[in-house]
Amino acid sequence: MFQKITEKDINYWRTVVGEQYVLLDNEDLLAVSKDETENLVYVPEAVVQPHNADEISLLLKYCNEHKIPVTTRGAGTGLSGGALAVAGGLVLDTKRLNKIVGIDTDNFQVTVEPGVITQELQDAVKEKGLFYPPDPASKGSCFIGGNVAENSGGPKAVKYGVVKDYVLNLEVVLADGTIMWTGANVLKNATGYNLTQLIVGSEGTLAVITKIVLRLIPAPQFDMLVLVPFKSATAACEAVNKIMLSGVIPSGLEFMERDAIEWTMRHMDSSVISLTDDVQAHLLIEVDGNERDVLYKEVEQINNVLETFDIGEVLFADSHQQKQALWSVRRKVGEAVKSYSIYKEEDTVVPRAKLPELLQTVKMLGEKHGFQSVCYGHAGDGNLHVNIIKGDMSDDDWNTKLSEGIAELFKAVVGMGGTLSGEHGIGWVQKQYMHIAFSKAHIALMKQIKTSFDPNGILNPLKVLPE
Ligand code: LAC
Ligand code: ZN
Repeated sequence: MFQKITEKDINYWRTVVGEQYVLLDNEDLLAVSKDETENLVYVPEAVVQPHNADEISLLLKYCNEHKIPVTTRGAGTGLSGGALAVAGGLVLDTKRLNKIVGIDTDNFQVTVEPGVITQELQDAVKEKGLFYPPDPASKGSCFIGGNVAENSGGPKAVKYGVVKDYVLNLEVVLADGTIMWTGANVLKNATGYNLTQLIVGSEGTLAVITKIVLRLIPAPQFDMLVLVPFKSATAACEAVNKIMLSGVIPSGLEFMERDAIEWTMRHMDSSVISLTDDVQAHLLIEVDGNERDVLYKEVEQINNVLETFDIGEVLFADSHQQKQALWSVRRKVGEAVKSYSIYKEEDTVVPRAKLPELLQTVKMLGEKHGFQSVCYGHAGDGNLHVNIIKGDMSDDDWNTKLSEGIAELFKAVVGMGGTLSGEHGIGWVQKQYMHIAFSKAHIALMKQIKTSFDPNGILNPLKVLPE
């Protein structure tokens, strides 16, 4: 169905983006052959590094006419294989679209290109007293374009929402080269179909994002952070909903199983958390706002809930440094697990009150199907990252039988009213499970949407939708 890249194609792309921005060396191809998903490697035929929407328009028009697959790539921190060129062809690297176009302090908005690092965007708006909350664990290296393409979340989502809640408008390039804005730079918009939100989370399969307009909010002045050890991991999950029901909305409510903390501290050579033998899991709880007194009261309110559980000594982070150290352990869990063993990551999400049931189901299925798991994640959102460890599982069991266990987990998740992915997307590695979450009619409708945007199927082929 797709054409292999030829000398003629390469020569044309060189005229569009400049000679040095068409990369063909093995080293350059290998550099974009992986992301952070498992241990997968897909080497593309070429990489192009365009500078703006006009160049992308010419590239897409050409690839569409010549049926060449185009996989758009941000920083490559994705966790579902979305940026992998599984069908070969071209990787469209967005790193040269790296400008913050403008911060509109009157309207609390920022316009940004997709290749800006999320943390740099957050820092730039913070200098103006503004706040862009979504903060994936990889915020120091991931690109805002990838965040929009995956509809990323992160710890602050429990109070502030995910990426979709901040995207007002997008400039995109369609498969045929058309450049368009999807909406308007307004806070309310009831004008026709919401193409902006259709593109958010579409994982590079519908269009290439070239500019993003985000809503901002005033930055909160203060935060407080506590770490709470639990003797039972299920009880930690039960406490999550009790905290929410008490009326406080924390700005972070994260769960980490014991192994997650132990492996991460070893990986980082950190000792910021002292783990006693009887501890099975921790909750990391943050509150933020503009009045310290209110925050103290909220922490007290949370404490009252926690006292009804069998917990160890609560650690109240009393310096900026200590807060950073605790958040750093939390943010590095994924990286630490990866360095510990080959693993698969499931990004399960259920209605929050079902979190204890989800954790127990994961452990029960692990026993049944013979896998070890370590769980952590955004408990306040009902979003549990389930890392399944290969350990000494045979390659055969790992590559074939495990998918039965994962399918059973997803069926249970859907049975609880949840779904397959909260924030990592479907990409390449989860699409085989889509039929568990959606009916045939639902998948057929999604395929029609894909075909309307991209009739030749050149944009990130073989992703999201099952065959
Ligand atoms: C995290 C990433 C894996 O929460 O989503 O650490
Ligand atoms: Zn996460």
